[in-house]
Amino acid sequence: MRTSGRLLPVLFAIGLMTLGGTTATAPARAQDAAQIAGTAAVSGTVEAPKPFQAAQVHLLNVDKNVLFMVYTSGGRYRAVNLFPGRYEVTVRKPGFSAETKSLTLAADAREALNFSLREEGAQPVQQGVFGFTSRIADATLVSYDELYPAGPGRDLVAKTCVYCHGKNFLPGRPYHETQWTHFVDLMLNPSSPRGAMIPAGTLSSTDRETVIAYLAKHYGPTSVKRALKVDADFPLDETVLGRAMYVEYYLPLDKQLDAANKQRRTQEPHFDPAGNVWYTDRSIPNRIGRVDPRTGEFRDFMMPDPKGDPHGLTVDKAGHVFWAETVGFHLGRLDPRTGSMLRYPMDSTGQSKGARGHTPVIDSKENVWFTVIGGDMLGKWDRKTEKARVWKVPTSGAAPYGISLDRDENVWFAEFRRGKIAKFDPKTEKFTEYSALTQPTTIRRLGVDSAGIVWYGGFSTGKLGKLDPKTGRIVEYDIPMPFSEPYDVWPDRNDQIWISDGGQGGSLIRFDPKTETFTYYPTPQTTDQPKLAITRDGAVWYTPRSSSKAAAGVLYPDVGKMTTFGAYY
Ligand code: HEC
Repeated sequence: MRTSGRLLPVLFAIGLMTLGGTTATAPARAQDAAQIAGTAAVSGTVEAPKPFQAAQVHLLNVDKNVLFMVYTSGGRYRAVNLFPGRYEVTVRKPGFSAETKSLTLAADAREALNFSLREEGAQPVQQGVFGFTSRIADATLVSYDELYPAGPGRDLVAKTCVYCHGKNFLPGRPYHETQWTHFVDLMLNPSSPRGAMIPAGTLSSTDRETVIAYLAKHYGPTSVKRALKVDADFPLDETVLGRAMYVEYYLPLDKQLDAANKQRRTQEPHFDPAGNVWYTDRSIPNRIGRVDPRTGEFRDFMMPDPKGDPHGLTVDKAGHVFWAETVGFHLGRLDPRTGSMLRYPMDSTGQSKGARGHTPVIDSKENVWFTVIGGDMLGKWDRKTEKARVWKVPTSGAAPYGISLDRDENVWFAEFRRGKIAKFDPKTEKFTEYSALTQPTTIRRLGVDSAGIVWYGGFSTGKLGKLDPKTGRIVEYDIPMPFSEPYDVWPDRNDQIWISDGGQGGSLIRFDPKTETFTYYPTPQTTDQPKLAITRDGAVWYTPRSSSKAAAGVLYPDVGKMTTFGAYY
């Protein structure tokens, strides 16, 4: 039997406060109430020559390669539920530095560790972005106005190219005018390999000239490579953050397999019935992986196609893991007990040449629905026949992306490149599409709350969208920080909406629909987080993707209520 799920008696925990050196004047916090058996706690003060808010205390368990991160509140911190082992503890706050301290924690230990911060110039921060919009290592970080200088074409470029490619893409490419002309025409051309990226009729020939002239002038062969400097001064609420804890389980680097990669890449987390967390791993060779959050133990399963590029993943009731491959258009299936892997074509007719799968989701009959980003389709793998079929979505160039089911098992998905939300009714096989209010935009993902309201993120507009399917009415909220990039938008059991946002370098954000307020939980690493999975206890799992260390990560918004490391829906 596992011991991790049990609570210690409250009386014992109160006794610990004195043992741990926490004085009676320290604010009573929820996490003082409970502690998972066999774990340790560290608390202390953080002093600085000038005021600061919510510094991050990073406690890295070097034996297990697991990071625990808490925030200071009123200059104090307290980290509970720490795995025993050797630790390196660092305090991070832009504008300050402090030495890293080491300590070893035995099971049930309570230690005190205090820090003094020195003032230091703040390091500029880039967006937590990936893919087209990758972070650019050798770029000079500049303001938006330096990145996109004023002049004819600036707004046109923003609404014709930047909304789709992200802010760092064009300024990172020093092309000659002939190359820019080639690429603009490629984006306009319906017969280019992926069709027209710029929707027909949205760019006149005069505007095309203006766009090319702007690109050639500002991003020419001699221009300095530059990327957006973001202001990472998040709105911070210490009373909320003082109760929170992040944990990141770092993926081990395999000496042989990862010699060339130097880094691994997780994409999408999901839980199995035993409380493990699964993820797709786009490191080459591609893997499907699992971490047991109670022990930090990882297990990898090599994919049949080492370059199939797994994107989304889901787990059925028996614990079988299904994943969608972007390259090769297969739905994979793993039985973790035997290690056997099957691959089903995503279109049994074999007619969808060059299509690219994206994200799967399981319905109550254990059929697997999936989006097809390249090929503009929605698909269904049938549990009884073990065959898959696809339906073309109404909008060409839509690029179906994130997917979710409502209570009536209508299939909702985001039409990424055309800024729409779509519904598919399996009974009538009809699609209904809704356009996001602010256009143009990309939409990565969406989630459906318990009342059937569909929530989405305007990735390039920085909006949180709310669609009521009963009326078709859409409301959009401004996410408070500039350059916000809401990626996944996912409700927890209490219909609090969680947003992953790499726009300012990385934050999880909680939106309370009743009070219409946003609460920020800045991430331990600069990153984006393409997908969230939330436990029945409200722990928010994510995969940091553009971060320097690949991980399966989790935020406990209220660590005092934590009873287990296991992850259950
Ligand atoms: C709706 C989304 C979208 C819009 C709008 C868009 N692009 Fe693209 N762009 C893409 C995609 C997707 C690709 C990759 C095409 C492929 O690989 O087949 C691409 C490819 C490119 C490439 C080549 C990248 C490479 O390294 O191979 C350049 C350069 C580019 N786009 C520039 C632009 C410019 C300039 C504009 C505006 C005039 C623009 N794009 C508008 C989505 C978009």
